[in-house]
Amino acid sequence: MLDPADPAFARDPHPYYASLRAQGPASQVRLANGTSAWLVTDYDTTRAVLADPRFSNVPPQRAGRPKPDSPARHARACLDRHMLNSDAPAHTRLRQITSAAFSARRVDALRPRVEELAFDLVSQLSARLDGEVVVDLVDTFAFPLPVLVISEILGVPEQDRADLREWTYRVGSPTDALPTDSADEAWLRLHGYFTALIAHKRHQPGQDLFSALVHDATDGGLDEGELLAMAFLLLFAGYETTMNLLASASLLLLTHPGELAKARRSPQHWAAVVEESLRHASPLEGTTWRRTTQKVKLPNGTVIPPDASVLAVLAAANRDPARFSDADAFRPGRYLAGPSEPRAAAHLAFGHGPHFCIGSQLARLEAAIALPLLFDSLSDLALAVTPEHIPYRPGLLVRGPRMLPVRRGYEWHRAPAQQRP
Ligand code: HEM
Repeated sequence: MLDPADPAFARDPHPYYASLRAQGPASQVRLANGTSAWLVTDYDTTRAVLADPRFSNVPPQRAGRPKPDSPARHARACLDRHMLNSDAPAHTRLRQITSAAFSARRVDALRPRVEELAFDLVSQLSARLDGEVVVDLVDTFAFPLPVLVISEILGVPEQDRADLREWTYRVGSPTDALPTDSADEAWLRLHGYFTALIAHKRHQPGQDLFSALVHDATDGGLDEGELLAMAFLLLFAGYETTMNLLASASLLLLTHPGELAKARRSPQHWAAVVEESLRHASPLEGTTWRRTTQKVKLPNGTVIPPDASVLAVLAAANRDPARFSDADAFRPGRYLAGPSEPRAAAHLAFGHGPHFCIGSQLARLEAAIALPLLFDSLSDLALAVTPEHIPYRPGLLVRGPRMLPVRRGYEWHRAPAQQRP
């Protein structure tokens, strides 16, 4: 029985995934909510499943599925129509329209703005560390940066960004963290805000990427509901994942001072730190759920029945010892070409196949700007708690620290054991 809300599992699910992988590439597991699912945990099978059209992304339309019975549920239901919930040919159409907006040229044009936003956040963080001693790095850095970058993409005006940040924080918080009313209200506000934003961009398009999508809508592009779903999808796909990447990479560097020192010495090492953090601490633990449209026989002979729920566990595939040597170790050097070791295999943190992450270049850009800036500006940044005390977000889909208390100059691993917090 697997309980994804168990804090011990959330903190370190890897021993469990390793035991599943030892049984075979896909295992049927009973979940604590009474359902059962197939978890795919090896690298090759994960790639195969994600490229196989017999594994559908369309959520089941259960007979008698209750209609949204409250305004907040209605707002949440808007998310049902996005491209991660669709298969070809509907998916191909949505993907083509959106890919143009995420071209390498457009993403690279965001670089100066991402630099400014990251610089402002690090300056504010530095000032707070001077005064407050202990500060949460998730709250002050890893969370706001991706939300601000998505605001740029959506063309949310400066004066509305604090609201967007607050609503996003509330709808994205783990269910046990805030009262349900608070999340419901935030859903409604986000829904109202995005509806108004789309209407505004129809009349006054800006230079932002979302304006291009709204504008294309008039030429046979996205309809009103699809635009709304797209705004929600970009917000959720883009912030929580990148937040987890920034938080996990920071934690890895703070607990691996030797790797941090190497990165500080050579700029090309930072790109390797980003890749290795994506592999070692995959921010999306599993992809979205797939459903078999027919019986599927895997190459090892395992048979998955039709209409089964299947989760490709990216975090497990990225630690597959058949693909990565010393897979549980954090070794950015594996992503540097060197004479002694060939470059490691590509990780699957951004998925694979038709739903491969559309924002991967943007996420890499954000991390490659933000991490060096953070660690170069705050040369004495240190964890303020022992790593074992850091709580993780519950669930099977996203993975990252819920908070990351930091301070200046205090090094937990150098303090005598009896003085550690
Ligand atoms: C570290 C950061 C990120 C990670 C690890 C990540 C990971 C992923 C993964 C694994 C998928 C495929 C899910 C599946 O197959 O079920 C995906 C899809 C997607 N991602 Fe990302 N993502 C990140 C950042 C972003 C950003 C910044 C954006 C946009 C602003 C974005 C937009 C999307 C979209 C729109 C899809 C759906 C693509 C499709 O269905 O064709 N992601 N992402």
